[in-house]
Amino acid sequence: MKILGIESSCDETAAAVVQDGRLLLSSVVNSQIDIHAVYGGVVPEVAARSHIEVINPVINQALSDAKLTWDDIDAIAVSYAPGLIGSLLVGTLAARTLAILKNKPLYPIHHVESHVYANFLTETANGIWNMEYGNSGSVPIANSQIPIATPSVPIFPVLALIVSGGHSQLVLFRDHGDYELLGQTQDDAVGEAFDKVAKILGLAYPGGPSISRAALNGSPTKYKLPKSKLSGKYDFSFSGLKTAVLRAVQHETGVDFTFPSTGLAQRLNDVQRADFAASFQRTAIETLVDKTERAFYDFDAKSVVIAGGVAANAELRRILSQRIPIHIDYAPSDLCTDNAAMVASMGYYYSLKNQPINPYELEVVPSLSMSK
Ligand code: KG4
Ligand code: ZN
Repeated sequence: MKILGIESSCDETAAAVVQDGRLLLSSVVNSQIDIHAVYGGVVPEVAARSHIEVINPVINQALSDAKLTWDDIDAIAVSYAPGLIGSLLVGTLAARTLAILKNKPLYPIHHVESHVYANFLTETANGIWNMEYGNSGSVPIANSQIPIATPSVPIFPVLALIVSGGHSQLVLFRDHGDYELLGQTQDDAVGEAFDKVAKILGLAYPGGPSISRAALNGSPTKYKLPKSKLSGKYDFSFSGLKTAVLRAVQHETGVDFTFPSTGLAQRLNDVQRADFAASFQRTAIETLVDKTERAFYDFDAKSVVIAGGVAANAELRRILSQRIPIHIDYAPSDLCTDNAAMVASMGYYYSLKNQPINPYELEVVPSLSMSK
């Protein structure tokens, strides 16, 4: 069964074709990062307008990259929640229209849940995985140069650490669609903390990649930052850590706590910047890994997967692999950040257990959590 996935919940317009949930035939991601970088974050109205401009070409590219026509497509899957309302509307309207015009079943996909399905994409058209294939334009799957071992399909119960710009949660999947939210952030998402700390340090948006790059030259033990203590066994908190970085930078640069965060970056030198990036990154990652390790033992998980934009972080992967005694297959970074291949993959497993939705009735749900 070949499913066309469509994703537009935030600032990436994406379409992809996946066969039987696992075989990646094409994945096109048009990123708006450059457009939003000047504002230091995503501007919802700008995002929606940009989605409208590119959604049709992106879908057509996904079909042509997969060397398929509409006749070959069995169903459409689309992210309908959660996300920015204007952004979600563009993708769902495109999907609803195409489902009606092309007479295809339509499946509504929860964006955050679908991040986990990057880990179910275990095969590519030519049998070769390319670890890093750039994050815009189409995926040159047929030209992949860097073969890596084929990842294996996660085995239930799967413990999923879902960490993105809007979410930080630990979820136990007993089967497809059968999951329990074990814990989540009580304030900022970890990706949001990366983005905010990057702003304080004067590093480029999005903060995750720029902090991890800067951290390569820094000492993770230079600045002592607190790991928050929470009552929920598997819950996270990152707002205190972000404030702790702010206070430490103010202290280091010789100003008091009333000094505006926007003026701090220019007072830091590159060594201090790298040390702050490394110290923050280490503390944030240890917070995530501590809770994941605890849940791994408490629930006897057979597989551990990480998902969402922050799952692209190399240091998170390294430390998690050190602490969890089973082998973890990490998805390529570009399948961790927003894409439509994960949506198409989940669409397949969803279709095995659920009826398609009436395309005239699908509505977006901008704030929908994973708790049931
Ligand atoms: O899943 P995603 O693409 O979008 C949603 O939020 O749904 O995640 C984006 C987030 C941003 O906060 C970005 O800074 C973070 O993922 N991110 C990273 C890395 N790459 C992206 N965080 C840490 N390390 C990275 N290498
Ligand atoms: Zn996402």
